[in-house]
Amino acid sequence: MLASAPLLLHNFWYLVLPAAKLRRGEMRKARLLSEPLLLCRARDGSVFALRDICPHRGIPLSYGRFDGREVECCYHGWRFGADGRCTAIPSLTPDQPMDVGKIRCGAYPCREVQGNIWVYMPEKSARLPRADGDGLPPVPELPGLGDAPPQISISQVFPCDCDQAAFGLMDPTHAAFVHTSWWWKKNATTLRQKEKHFEPAPLGWRMKRHPLPPQNRAYRVFLGDGATTEITYALPGLRIELIEGARHSAAGLTAITPLSETETEVHQALYWTLPWTAPLRPLARRLAHIFLAQDRKVVIKQQEGLAHGPNLMLIDDADTQAKWYHRLKREWLDAAREGRPFENPIKAKTLQWRS
Ligand code: FES
Ligand SMILES: [Fe+2]
Repeated sequence: MLASAPLLLHNFWYLVLPAAKLRRGEMRKARLLSEPLLLCRARDGSVFALRDICPHRGIPLSYGRFDGREVECCYHGWRFGADGRCTAIPSLTPDQPMDVGKIRCGAYPCREVQGNIWVYMPEKSARLPRADGDGLPPVPELPGLGDAPPQISISQVFPCDCDQAAFGLMDPTHAAFVHTSWWWKKNATTLRQKEKHFEPAPLGWRMKRHPLPPQNRAYRVFLGDGATTEITYALPGLRIELIEGARHSAAGLTAITPLSETETEVHQALYWTLPWTAPLRPLARRLAHIFLAQDRKVVIKQQEGLAHGPNLMLIDDADTQAKWYHRLKREWLDAAREGRPFENPIKAKTLQWRS
């Protein structure tokens, strides 16, 4: 049986938007862990995230204007800078001195890394950390890619809690039933027995490097012979796959971002080092969309059943990783509550399943 209510994890960096979707001088409404956000890209290219609520009368700042430097509230024109401080209150007369800089709408630490915009969401009760993010853990990064943006990035909102979305991410046995496009897997009649070795990794676990199945011809063509892959899962809901071939390498980042307790955005960013592949990008993006939409459709159907609060099951070894995810989450919350360091409960293990 599964643990009950999904718990939103604070004090993590979350991927909130592919960076290409926010141009200079633009602002965008967003949500993260039920908090309203306003993402802005200043004229100088830097990004920042404000709490999307005007501290004067509570109207979302996103209804206002952004001049590429400051946001102006649409109601009485109060202005706010990148650090969330108020910079001007138009109604003040010269003999009404007021330290407007003491008024803040709140700014969240915000970073652009490898073509994605990340926001750090602290505990609700805690004071907001410094907006420059000093003293926070590093933003998750894919090794060996420098700061190149992804070749493809797609995002879809799933109408489910973050735990169901995360399970889908680490579920090795649904593909033959859900991802049944002709170009992927035709049907479930060709299940093969799989055996994969796992080891603990920071805040999660890793499926150790292993050869890609020989039937994945596309990998061989593009990356060269003997392509291998390694997949790491980490809290709060990250999957990082690093594929290496004789000639080239590729990497995939999937980030589960809880918008609220009932809605989760799934972001996927795909990176590769092959030159001359720009013409293939639209096709690859289309296929990635179809693939993720298959996961989303099954989640929508699943909600019909979950609405009745059924008891659910996680079975070994197919769902062992989902169990690990639960254990990690619990340990992380316990450690935070008890004020002690997090201790990774995952032990090295070999898992088997048919898929
Ligand atoms: S509500 Fe924003 S300035 Fe008054
Ligand atoms: Fe899937």
